Amino acid sequence: MPVKLVLGLQHGDEGKGRIVDDIAEFWADVVVRFQGGGNAGHTVYDREGNKYVTHILPVGVLVKQSKNHAMKRHITNIIARGCVLNIVDLYDEIKSFNNELSNKDLQISGYCPLIEPTHILADRLNYQGKLGTTARGIGPAYSDFYARDSILFKDLIEDPQSSLFKMQDKFFKFQTDLAQNGHVYPLLSDSHNEMLNNNFAFFNDWIDNFDEKVEYIKQFISKDESIITDLYNEGKNILLEGAQGCGLNIHSNNYPDVTSSAPTIGGALNSTGLNHKQINEVIGVMKAYKTKVGTGDFPSKCNISDGETLAKFGNEFGATTGRPRKCGWLDFDEVNQAIQMNGIDHLCLIKTDVFCNIEKPFIYHKKDLESISKINNVSLEDKGFVELLMTIKDKTGINNISFTTGPKRGEIVWNV
Ligand code: IMP
Repeated sequence: MPVKLVLGLQHGDEGKGRIVDDIAEFWADVVVRFQGGGNAGHTVYDREGNKYVTHILPVGVLVKQSKNHAMKRHITNIIARGCVLNIVDLYDEIKSFNNELSNKDLQISGYCPLIEPTHILADRLNYQGKLGTTARGIGPAYSDFYARDSILFKDLIEDPQSSLFKMQDKFFKFQTDLAQNGHVYPLLSDSHNEMLNNNFAFFNDWIDNFDEKVEYIKQFISKDESIITDLYNEGKNILLEGAQGCGLNIHSNNYPDVTSSAPTIGGALNSTGLNHKQINEVIGVMKAYKTKVGTGDFPSKCNISDGETLAKFGNEFGATTGRPRKCGWLDFDEVNQAIQMNGIDHLCLIKTDVFCNIEKPFIYHKKDLESISKINNVSLEDKGFVELLMTIKDKTGINNISFTTGPKRGEIVWNV
């Protein structure tokens, strides 16, 4: 009854999605997304190079979307209770696939708190500028959850009309507050009335065909909240899919430049109901360099020219927001902290092919830059690449490393 957990060891965008996709294809019966919401953007290229992006759906839904996959099993995808749900975006994401999902493919915990339109508006107004959030309403939705004011997914399914009334009520209070106290909001100026009108338009758009969407989504609600432990007891292979990365953990020293959930083993246990003894392998994903979006600097930031090279060859633009990512060198201080707190067993190194474009590469360790050999090829024949693998093993103490050789499904060398 093995359980594998995939986590990002940096600031998100490590490429967890493609690792989850690779493992899902040959191993998983169940894939569980356990924290965050539509702030994630998990990008996957199938063997033909077709691109797919998921935001809230577990990446396991993608395997059956492409023709030439090696999978023989059926995958049950689960959105666990630690995630926040925007049901309008969820509906659009499900509908965006060619192969329709049934409730055998997707199960959603009834205890997921909803992201309401007011959460999105509050995120845009109060946090997008200040913290560089993705403006998907994540922080305000978790705030309501911890204040025990959330509408849960099961509430919506049981009584859509009263859930809608609650959302409307919150929206009107938000608008009234804005109308009366607009001057205290730093982003509001003369365009105050315009913003109030835009908010109305956004809210009306969001609730358009609401009943129809809820009626469609209701098939996916989990009948039994013990679904994950039940599947574990049936002996299924369970893959837990982290979103964001440990550098964005709400319980970290990077606060407040963080997300509002725990992309860690602790977050996975809280959300799934599994216990720590049931997790057999913790896989940490990291790029051969580092990227970050949002506010907050980082010590391993590289010079402008190397940053531009990494951004260009690595296509370092957010999959959710399209924002350019700041680039830097692989920071072992950060990675080692994540390894320690999550008990990482296995490292997956991503995008070394992008790193090959750097003439004079560096790594960052013990608060200092160290020069390393140029890497010409992501191959065990390449001296620079083998040296990088040895450096990683030496500095992290982890001997089980896998590495990707390109962006497509299957372009990965396991366990060297
Ligand atoms: P939020 O999660 O939208 O509240 O944003 C909080 C911080 O987390 C911001 O710095 C975002 O840029 C960052 N963030 C959230 N999701 C991701 C992600 O999937 N990848 C990278 N950064 C993210």
